[in-house]
Amino acid sequence: MASSLVNKNIIVINTIDKIRKQVKTLKSNNKTIGLVPTMGALHDGHASLIKKAAQECDEVVVSIFVNPTQFGLNEDLDKYPRQLKHDIEICKVNGASLIFAPSDKEIYPENKHLTYVVPSKYYQNKLCGLTRQGHFNGVATIVLKLFNIITPDQAFFGLKDAQQLIIIKKMCQDLNVPVKILECPIIRDTDGLALSSRNAYLTESGRFKATTVNKFLFKIKELYNSGLQNKEEILKIALKQLDATVKLEYLEFLSLESFSEIDLLEKNTLIAVAANVDNVRLIDNIVI
Ligand code: PAF
Repeated sequence: MASSLVNKNIIVINTIDKIRKQVKTLKSNNKTIGLVPTMGALHDGHASLIKKAAQECDEVVVSIFVNPTQFGLNEDLDKYPRQLKHDIEICKVNGASLIFAPSDKEIYPENKHLTYVVPSKYYQNKLCGLTRQGHFNGVATIVLKLFNIITPDQAFFGLKDAQQLIIIKKMCQDLNVPVKILECPIIRDTDGLALSSRNAYLTESGRFKATTVNKFLFKIKELYNSGLQNKEEILKIALKQLDATVKLEYLEFLSLESFSEIDLLEKNTLIAVAANVDNVRLIDNIVI
């Protein structure tokens, strides 16, 4: 049975011992547990994951932890937005019952000589993994730790971070992790821009330029639906949508199943971009 109550009293837990005890009690009452792992700064994209989890599971745990091991040396971990009060509200109104918000010390008590989960280079050396060396080791490690701590039946991830989703699915398959991974669609604003905490850094004109990235992706889909399959032919037309100042960091056409490169588009092709718009790095993708 799915949990239907919104606005109920939410419990915020900071320690591994306490969350384990809570989960144990819930499981002894035959409740199914859904986990939505986050780094906080929650927006409507996260809200949709929480809602979906509340539809699918009896109880929803949202983890809020800005994971230091997935940040590179040049990436500003300290500036990452932290807004627990606001996040608690979003969890509450969307049907979560528990928030797990541990400290760095709780998760990495001895922050040295750590054991990492290292996803295959095949999956890492593409898309965001190319410029964010080590990022997915940190992501896979914290996700497996959260799975071991919370032991959810299902965990919910957004398709916006497609590479993360694919890597986590593969990790669960390869390491026999008994958690069902559910993917949720990208949530877009009315102008089509994929929701991201980084959109807040855009000026009005930057935002307009940013929307040319989603227009570009949707043009690709439109061309494919009209019968074109050849990547180069499609790009020749679709690239005209992009604002001239938008710099593409990567643009890849990959099979969603095998993660190999695609030249002739077919069903389940992932088209993923990272773009620099007025010095704001945005990612977006579509699956056809
Ligand atoms: O997508 C995120 O917010 C993070 O990468 C995740 C999955 C919560 C791990 O820290």
